Amino acid sequence: MDDLVQLTRDRDTDNDVAIITINNPPVNALSPGVAQGIAQTIAQADKDDGVKAVVLIGGGRTFVAGADIKEFGKITSGKTQRGAGLLPLLLQIEDVRKPVVVAIHGSAFGGGLELAMAGHYRVAAPSAQLGQPEVKLGIIPGAGGTQRLPRLVGVAKAVEMCAEGNPITAQEALKLGLVDRLIEGDLLAGAVAFAREASEKPVRKTRERSDKLGTPALNEPIFAAAREKARTKQRGMMSAIAAIDAVEAATRVSFEEGCQVERQLFDKCLFSDQSKALIHAFFGEREVAKIPDIPKETAIIPVNSVAVVGAGTMGGGIAMVFANAGFRVLIKEADQPALDRGLATIQKNYQSSVKRGRFTQQFVDERLKLIQPTLSYDDFGDVDMVVEAVFEGMALKKEVFGQLDRVCKPGAILASNTSTLDVDEIASATSRPGAVIGTHFFSPANIMRLLEIVRGKASSKEVIATCMQLSKKLGKVGVLVGNCRGFVGNRIFGPYRREAQFLVEEGASIETVDHALYDFGMAMGPMSTGDLAGLDVGWRIRKEFRHLEKPGVRQPFAEDRLCELGRYGQKTGAGWYKYDENRRAIPDPEVNEMVLRWSREAGIAQRKISSEEIVDRCIYALVNEGARILEEGIVGRTVDIDIIYLNGYGFPAYRGGPMWYADTVGLDKVYRRISEFQQQHGELWEPAPLLKRLAQEGKTFAELNREQAVMA
Ligand code: 3HC
Ligand code: NAI
Repeated sequence: MDDLVQLTRDRDTDNDVAIITINNPPVNALSPGVAQGIAQTIAQADKDDGVKAVVLIGGGRTFVAGADIKEFGKITSGKTQRGAGLLPLLLQIEDVRKPVVVAIHGSAFGGGLELAMAGHYRVAAPSAQLGQPEVKLGIIPGAGGTQRLPRLVGVAKAVEMCAEGNPITAQEALKLGLVDRLIEGDLLAGAVAFAREASEKPVRKTRERSDKLGTPALNEPIFAAAREKARTKQRGMMSAIAAIDAVEAATRVSFEEGCQVERQLFDKCLFSDQSKALIHAFFGEREVAKIPDIPKETAIIPVNSVAVVGAGTMGGGIAMVFANAGFRVLIKEADQPALDRGLATIQKNYQSSVKRGRFTQQFVDERLKLIQPTLSYDDFGDVDMVVEAVFEGMALKKEVFGQLDRVCKPGAILASNTSTLDVDEIASATSRPGAVIGTHFFSPANIMRLLEIVRGKASSKEVIATCMQLSKKLGKVGVLVGNCRGFVGNRIFGPYRREAQFLVEEGASIETVDHALYDFGMAMGPMSTGDLAGLDVGWRIRKEFRHLEKPGVRQPFAEDRLCELGRYGQKTGAGWYKYDENRRAIPDPEVNEMVLRWSREAGIAQRKISSEEIVDRCIYALVNEGARILEEGIVGRTVDIDIIYLNGYGFPAYRGGPMWYADTVGLDKVYRRISEFQQQHGELWEPAPLLKRLAQEGKTFAELNREQAVMA
C-alpha cells in the first residue's frame, strides 16, 4: 500500500493541505491495494486537526483510468470474490469533514471519474479528459457513477456519457459543472491553492444534490431518445441499455436505492458473455502491438514526412490519414487530370467531414496545406516513408518500387498498400528489400481503424517496429501479418462470402442471407458488403487465379454472372440489390429469380434454409480458415485474427471476434458442425487440423493464445 498511495503535506508555510498521491503505473488503475491505500490515507487526513483540506492527485502520466480491468476476469472466473467494490470508499471520501479537492490530469475514466465525483471539488489540467467508458467493456459504471454524474452534469449529458462511453474535454467538463476550475501550469500547486480557498466554505456532497435531476416530464423524452439511439448505434449491446436504465433510476429513487439498481445491472452485465468478449477485445487491441520477436528496445526510424504514390480511392484516403495526424504528405499521380481528380476527392471528403461536424474548417484548412501534389519523384529524396497505392498489378508495382529505390534516401521505408500481391516479389524490384513492407489500409482509409502490416521475408525489425508504432500515431490498430494471398482479413473473408453465395444458390434469398448475418451483429450482410466494395474486384481476382482452382470442387458462380451483366454493385447502381440515387438498397426480385434459374440449370437442389444454418455456414467458414492461418503461422496469435475482424470487417465487438466467438460456442460443437458440412458439401469444408486437435483435447483458442504468449 505504501508504494501505491502516499500521504504528504504541501510545502507552503501554512503546511495545512494534505496531499494524497496515487502511484500505480502505468494508468493508476484502482487495483485492490489502491482503494485500501486511499481509504487509510483519507482517514488519517480526516482525523488530523492540522489538515484543513485534502488534495487527491494521480502520480505519473494520468489521474486514474478506472477500476483494474484485469480484476473482472478473476471475479467472473470465480478466482476472486466479488466484494463491496469502491462504493464504501467513495462514501467515506464524501463524508470527510474538510474539503477534498480532486486534481485531474490525463484521464479520469470509469472508476477514476467516480472517485473524482466523490470529492467535494474537482480541478483539472486543460488537456485532461473525463468519461465513463465502461459501456465499451460491456459493463456500466459500478461505483455510483450513474447516480452521481446526473447530479453534476444533468440527466441528458449523464445518459449520453454513460450509454455511449465517449470522454469529454476538461473545457466541456468545466462548462457542465463537472470540474470547478482549470489549472494552467503546475496542477498540484493550483489544486493546493484551490483547496485552501475551499477550506473556508462548507463541504458539499455530490450525492445530496438534486438540482440537476430534472422532472419526469423533462426526463422521459431524454430516456426514450437515448434508448432509440442505443438500439440503432449500439445494436445488440446490452450494456448501453443497462446504463440508461441505471441513470433513469437516479431520477426516480433515492441515491442509496439508485446505487443498488446500478449494482444489480452492473453484475448482470459483468457476468455476461458480452462483457467477457469486449474485455478480450480491449486487452487484445493492446496485445497485438507486442510482437514476440521484436523487442520493445528495437530502434524506431524517425518518420516526419511521407509520400503517397497514387491519388485514387486508397491513395487519397491514406494521404488524409497522415495529414490528419500532422504529417507533411507529398502525393504523386501519373498525370494532371488524375491528380486533379484525386485532390478534388480529398477536398470533397474533408468538406463532408466539416458538414457532419467531425472536423472544423480550420482543422481542414491546416490539413490541406500539409498535402502537396506532385507529378514527379523529384522531392522524394527527402521523405522518410513512401506508401504506394497505384493500380493492383505486379508489373506496375515493380516499376514504381524500382523508381522509389533510385530516388529515396537510404533508410526510407518503402511500403505497399497492395491487397493481394506478394510483398516479397515487390521488394525484389529494389536493392533494399529490408526497407520494404506492406501497409494494407482498409477502405475508406481515413475512417477504417484496421491496418494490416504485412511482413515480407526480408522486412527489417526496425521497419516493422516503426510501422507498428506509427499505426497508433495514425489512430489505427496495426496488426502484423504474414505474406500470403489476401493476407489475413481478405483471405478469411473469401470462404465467408463463398458460403453466402452458396446459400443463395441453394435457395436462400439474398435478403434472408443478409438479415441473418445482420441479426447476428455484423455491420452489414455479406451481399450488401459485396455491393459496397464492388463485385468486380473479386471477379477480376477470381479470373486471374482460376487456374489454381481444383477441378471438380464446387465454386460459386452467381456473382460472376452478375458481373457479366454489368452489375458491379453500388457503383453501377445494381449488384445483388438495385440502388437509388442516394445509394439506398432496394431488393431486386429479378436477381433472386435469375439465381434460381442458374442454380436449377446447374442442378443445385433448392431447399428452405434456416437463419441458424446461414450464420453457422458463414461464421464457421471464417473460423475454419482462421485456424488454418494460425497453423501456417501467418499470424502469431488467435487474438490477431479477432482484432482484424473487429476493426476491419464489422464483426460485432460484443462477440469478441470469430475465434473468441467459436470458443463461446465450444470448439467441439463447432468442429462437429464443420464435419457435418464436410459430409454435405465436400472438401471445401475439411476441418482445419488445428481446430480438430483443440476440439479433441477439449481446449479453446483463448488457451492456445495464452500458450503462444508463454512460448514467445
Ligand atoms: N485496468 C487495467 N489495465 C489498464 C487499464 C485499466 N483500467 N487501463 C489501461 N490499462 C493498461 C493497458 O492494458 C496497457 O497495459 P500494457 O502496457 O500491459 O499493454 C497499459 O495500461 C497502458 O494502456 P494503453 O496502452 O491503453 O495506454 P494509452 O496511453 O494509449 O491509453 C487510457 C490510456 C486512455 C487510459 C486507456 O488505457 C484506456 O482507455 N483505458 C481503459 C479505461 C476504461 O475503460 N476504464 C473503465 C474501467 S472499468 C471501471 O472503471 C468500472 C468502474 O465503474 C467500477
Ligand atoms: P484506384 O484505381 O482508385 O487508384 C489508383 C491510382 O493510381 C490511380 O489514380 C492511378 O492514376 C494512379 N497511378 C497509376 N500509376 C501510377 C504511377 N506510376 N504513379 C502515380 N500514380 C499512379 O485504386 P485503389 O482502389 O486506390 O487501389 C490502390 C491500391 O490499394 C491497390 O493496390 C489495391 O489493391 C489496394 N487496396 C484497395 C482497396 C479498395 O478497397 N479499393 C482496399 C485496400 C487496398
